[in-house]
Amino acid sequence: MISGSTPNVPKHVAIIMDGNGRWAKERGLPRTVGHTKGVEAVRRAVELAGDYGIRYLTLFAFSSENWSRPEAEVADLLGLLRRFIRRDLAELHKANVRIKVIGDRENLKGDILPLLLEAEDTTRRNSGLTLIIAFNYGARDELTRATRRLAAMIEAGELASRDITEHQLASQLDTFGIPDPDLIIRTSGEERLSNFLLWQAAYAEFVFLSGYWPDFGREMFDEALRIFAGRNRRFGGLSESTAAVVG
Ligand code: FPP
Repeated sequence: MISGSTPNVPKHVAIIMDGNGRWAKERGLPRTVGHTKGVEAVRRAVELAGDYGIRYLTLFAFSSENWSRPEAEVADLLGLLRRFIRRDLAELHKANVRIKVIGDRENLKGDILPLLLEAEDTTRRNSGLTLIIAFNYGARDELTRATRRLAAMIEAGELASRDITEHQLASQLDTFGIPDPDLIIRTSGEERLSNFLLWQAAYAEFVFLSGYWPDFGREMFDEALRIFAGRNRRFGGLSESTAAVVG
């Protein structure tokens, strides 16, 4: 079993939770059952991340593109997220989990944004796992919003274009203050990033698991962490063993 004392446990794991629909279809069930089971997998992932000693866990809960799904499915996903916050917030708070939300907060209707903000506010002093919920999130949208803010600063005479640095740009992203993900997991066998954390993923390791999200638990998480631990991360430099030979 992998635990926080095992070396090479990533500090930040981000997950593209995929395959709820296929999980349900293979069982002759409506997609909504797959999403409901997906929430159970979310609970397992959060608890396991804490056990492993992972510090940051980002979950891609709802993308800016997910609005184009049938209205009933959108309502279903929003309902599940709403219920998750309502039912689990007290327990997450007790478990010292700090919740953060990334994604576009403008033009969101209804009670979902106030609920997410309440979750952030209630847990903001907690010092355990940081659970980052990507909601109404798209990486291109995030980069566009950041660029707009930098342009406004230039227009206001607060910033010169030559002073824009990587740090400046990163400071305008929704993830400012959160370390980049070390490991990005996608379930269901699909192997793409789908507009998730494009900037932050620059040096992330990718692990694609064949299992569907509703089946995610210790076995699949352990597998991803084992694969991660076996990777040789060089961040554009040389690995220690190669450097020793060259040097
Ligand atoms: C992908 O399955 C999953 C989603 C689009 C949403 C993930 C949301 C949840 C697990 C529930 C709410 C989240 C939280 C944090 C409580 P899919 O529908 O794309 O599956 P398919 O590709 O097999 O059709």
